[in-house]
Parts: sequence; C-alpha cells; structure tokens
Amino acid sequence: PAYDLVIRNARIVTAEHAAEGDIAIKDGAIAALGRVAGDGAREIDAAGKFVLPGGVDSHVHVEQRSGMGIMCADDFYTGTVSAAYGGTTTIIPFAAQHRGMSLRKVVQDYHEAATPKAVIDYAFHLIVSDPTEQVLGQELPALIRDGYTSFKIYMTYEALKVSDYQMLDILALARREGALVMVHAENHDMIQWLAHHLVDQGHVAPRYHAIAHARVAEAEATNRAIALARLVDAPMLIVHMSEIEAIDTVRQARARGLKIFAETCPQYIALTGDDLDKPDVQGAMWCCSPPPRDSAAQEAVWAGLKDGTFDVFSSDHAPYQFNEGGKIPKGLTTTFKEMANGVPGLELRLPLLFSEGVQTGRIDLHRFAALSSTNHARLYGLYPRKGTIAVGSDADLAIWDPQRQVTVRWADLHDNVGYSPYEGRQITGWPTTVISRGRVVVENGKLDAARGSGRFLRCESPDASRPLGKPAPEMAKMGAFGVRPLF
Ligand code: URP
Ligand code: ZN
Ligand code: ZN
Ligand code: ZN
Repeated sequence: PAYDLVIRNARIVTAEHAAEGDIAIKDGAIAALGRVAGDGAREIDAAGKFVLPGGVDSHVHVEQRSGMGIMCADDFYTGTVSAAYGGTTTIIPFAAQHRGMSLRKVVQDYHEAATPKAVIDYAFHLIVSDPTEQVLGQELPALIRDGYTSFKIYMTYEALKVSDYQMLDILALARREGALVMVHAENHDMIQWLAHHLVDQGHVAPRYHAIAHARVAEAEATNRAIALARLVDAPMLIVHMSEIEAIDTVRQARARGLKIFAETCPQYIALTGDDLDKPDVQGAMWCCSPPPRDSAAQEAVWAGLKDGTFDVFSSDHAPYQFNEGGKIPKGLTTTFKEMANGVPGLELRLPLLFSEGVQTGRIDLHRFAALSSTNHARLYGLYPRKGTIAVGSDADLAIWDPQRQVTVRWADLHDNVGYSPYEGRQITGWPTTVISRGRVVVENGKLDAARGSGRFLRCESPDASRPLGKPAPEMAKMGAFGVRPLF
C-alpha cells in the first residue's frame, strides 16, 4: 500500500479551512490531502463525521506536587490516556520548581516521570517560583534554548508566588530570550485577608473558598500583571480566567495593541460557585482557583471565547482525589485553606466545549479547532507540527461523531481522580477515533497505545513571545542611563 493509513470521506475542519476529502498518513505524518488515489494499509471511513486536529491541552498538572505539597492523582500514564480518550493528542504539563530547587533538576525529574508512561506527545512549561541569580542568569536561558519556551508564575499561593519585582525580572528575561510568561493572576493579600476573617468566624467549609477568592482579587491582579508587562514590553498570557472585569481588562489591552493573551477553562463555562455549596466537605470536589463564579461570568467567558479575547481553552486539569486513602478530602483537614485547588478536566475539555459551544451555535467548528488545538500550538512554539491538518504535520487527529450522546459518569472516564465535577451531565458529540502520529490510539472506547510511546516535544521560541518594541517611555530611557535589562 502507498500509505499506512487513509481516512476517507472526511469533513476536515481546521481553524481556517473546511473541506470534504481524504487524509493519507505515512510514517506518522500527513502525506496527502484531498482525493487520495493510493490505498492505505488501513482505511477508515469517516462519512458523517468531522475530522479535527487532535486537541492540544496547554494547561495540565500531571504527577505534580501542589503548592501545599499534595500530589496529583494522575501520573503520565493515566493523565495521557485520559487526554487521548477526550480527543487530545498533545499535552503541555508543568515542570514545577519549588523554592530551593534547581530548575534543571526539576526538568530532569519530570522527564524521568513522563518518558516511561506517556501515551501521547508532550512538551513542558516551567513553573518558576524561585528566580535566583542562578535561575535567571543561567538555568532559564539554557532551558529556553533546549525547548522549554514558556513558564508560569504565580501571584498567589504562599509557596509559589513571586513578587512584582521578581515578575519584572522574569518578564525582562522572557522578552530577551524569547519565552512566553503565563500568569496566575489573583491578589494574594486580598484572598488571605478574607480567608483569615472567614476562618476566624468558624467558616471553614469548602464553599468559603469561593468567597475568599473574590472577583476583584482576580481583576486587580490581572490589571497589575498587564501593567508590569507594559513597563518592560513583554508579551504575557493570563491563565484560567473566570471573571467579567478581568476579561474586559484583557479585551481593552488587546484593543490597544498589546500582546496580552488569555486562557479560560471548562469549569468557567460549566460550573458556578454554588457547586461548592454542598453539605459537609463535599464541595471540595468543585474547588479550583480562581473559583467558578456565576451565570453572568459564564456569559462573559462565552463572549470572550467568541470574540477572540480568549486564545486558548485549556483544562487546567489539576486532579486530586476526594477520598485519598479513604481519609482526607483533597487535603482538607481543618479549613478550606488547606484544601488542594483544582478540578479534573483533561478528558471532558473538548466534549464540553463541543457540546456547549458548537452544538448550541455559540462558536463554529473553526473557532473550536483554534481554541482546542491550533492556538495552543502557535502560542507555545509547536505549530505547524501540531495543531493543524496539513501535509507534513504530525498525523494527530480526532474523528468526531457529532450525534453521539454521552451521560458523564466518572466510572466511564480514564483518570485516577475518583469523581467528576460534571457527573450526570449530558454531552452531545464525542471523539470516537483518536490518532496520534498516525497510530489509532483510541477507537470505539478501546485504547491501543503502549506506555512510553508518547514523545517529548521541544518548543520553538514562539512568535507570541516577540516584544512589540514599545516599552514604557521611562523604561526606554534606561538604556541611556547605562541600564540594559532588556537587551
Ligand atoms: O485550582 C487550580 N487551578 N489548581 C491548579 C494550580 C493552578 O493554579 O493552576
Ligand atoms: Zn494557576
Ligand atoms: Zn483558596
Ligand atoms: Zn493550573
């Protein structure tokens, strides 16, 4: 046969194009598109289905310890298997530095964890919590050149947060070396102050997490993060946005031509703060930061998904078992302050967006492809190897059955979390066949992928990280004073 695999009669949809035709795959890459004459060792008839670029999930926590020291429930096997079942063929988890650690060592450790287990391809972002001279001067520039071209920094969480001063150091470095900085934007002191007074009055249940993490804490930190980026003319991406005012702030920054990118997640279209309001400690299952808000915020998130304020829709999969060893719900021993933050979402990210977005007419399939795959690959330096359907690109594809009805049951999912925050929800549309580098890894509910068959991807320095060349006027004068932190 001329090809390893040919998908026939597909309705092929990418971020830019739609076409009816065949996809021929050889040696893991797309070899031909259109009317393919040659035959395949294997052929799949995709009549009546959509073929989309395999999902790229650029915000996932796998085999990572939280700021509070709690271990994720998913390792690189269950995490990537769960991703594949949900139509995702690339993940970008974090290699997380905790204070005192060498970033180089951190990266080695995550590779050791991922290499023998991952079943789909992966890159890494770095989490920088300790920007020492060694990290800023040597480790980060070298790691960026080695293909780790994005890093996340935190404005909150005691163990991870960096100061505004440190943010400027990191932004200036990213600007100079061609990396993209991702920011968790919440005002730490506002949250701590509210939490302290809630706990003082005996309000310790999970539902108070959604009160302590006030909307204005997200709005303020988003505004401040953008101001810091403006000072030094560094592009920035604000992760997991949930809130109306913060979204407006990003929209305005973009309207002024600033390179501010933004991400949102399934929990902000499908959950609300009321979900945390459950008897006893049950609400911990819906705890994430920022917390889900209300229906008005959900509408603002949809507006941002439609109008392009959001570039990427990621899961922020942060899996913690509610009944770890049958004892402690997500670490919640005394108050909501100790509870692990995060909800699972790797497997349902795309089905939820398809069902709630495409099927309802809120977004079209091109936007779906952009938000679920293409923009992630572009923003983080993996395009066009990942994120599209084009000759020469990796054959990472998801064949979607738009009619397939699924009722969410955690028992049918493939993560190791033990519950789903979306239990009982109706979903219309499902990725029935998932292909990673030409390998059919999921088909009709069955997995066919060996542990360790996923490959590490080095990220290029992304266009998104290129500065505008317009720092704040005072910053621009620094060169004349002999100070050149930017160049
Ligand atoms: O609640 C969340 N989002 N937990 C994961 C860690 C993070 O801040 O992304
Ligand atoms: Zn975060
Ligand atoms: Zn909290
Ligand atoms: Zn996260």
